[in-house]
Amino acid sequence: MDNSERTAEYRTRLGERRDKLQAEIAAILPHGGPFVLEVGSGHGHFLNAFAEANPARVCVGIDLQQERVVRSLRKRDRAKLKNLHFLRGDVAMLLEVLPAGALADLIFVLFPDPWPKLRHHKHRTMQAHFLQTLAARTLPGSHLCFRTDFEPYFRDVEATLKTHPDWELVQAPWPFELPTVFQERAEAFHSLIAQRR
Ligand SMILES: C[S@@+](CC[C@H](N)C(=O)[O-])C[C@H]1O[C@@H](n2cnc3c(N)ncnc32)[C@H](O)[C@@H]1O
Repeated sequence: MDNSERTAEYRTRLGERRDKLQAEIAAILPHGGPFVLEVGSGHGHFLNAFAEANPARVCVGIDLQQERVVRSLRKRDRAKLKNLHFLRGDVAMLLEVLPAGALADLIFVLFPDPWPKLRHHKHRTMQAHFLQTLAARTLPGSHLCFRTDFEPYFRDVEATLKTHPDWELVQAPWPFELPTVFQERAEAFHSLIAQRR
C-alpha cells in the first residue's frame, strides 16, 4: 500500500467513525436540548454518580478508550440509569456532529491527560481553540468545570481562560463531588469553573 492509499484508507475510517458518532448522539438527543457533558469520562464513576443523583438531566460521557467506555456502560446498566450515555470517540468530533439545538449546559473535564512535555502540549484537550469550539455548543451561563493534579496545566488553562472571549472564570461551588479514578491517585489537585459569556 502506498502513501496515498494509506491516506485514503485513513480518511474512510475517519468518515465511518464520524457517521457512527453522529448516529449515536442523534439517537440520544433526537430533539436537541440541554445536556451534561463529561470529556474523557474514563472509568465512568463520576458521571454514573452524577446521573443517579440528577435523574432529570441527560448525561453524556465520551472517551477515546473503548475498554473504559465498556466498563462505564456496565456500571450504567447495573444501576439501570436511563439518563446516562457513554460514547467512544474524540470530543472534537462529537462537537462537530452534535444535532442542531443540542447544547451542553454543564461540562466536566476531570484530570485530562497532562502531556507534561512542551513539545506535547499540542495534544492537550484544554486549549484556546477547543474552548472556542466548545463554547459554540454550549448555552450562555453554562459552567465548565476543570480539575487536574498537574499544576502547570492548571495554570496554563487558568491563564487561557482569563483572556478568552467566550469564557470567564467564576467563583462558584463545585457542582458535584465524587472522586474519579485519577482523583483517587492524586495527592492534591486544583479546580476551576468557567462560565460561558
Ligand atoms: C487521565 S484520564 C482521566 C479519566 C477520568 N476523567 C478520571 O479522572 O479518572 C484522561 C482520559 O481522557 C480520555 N481522552 C483523552 N483525549 C480525549 C479526547 N480528545 N476525547 C475524548 N476522550 C479523551 C483518555 O482516553 C482518558 O481516559
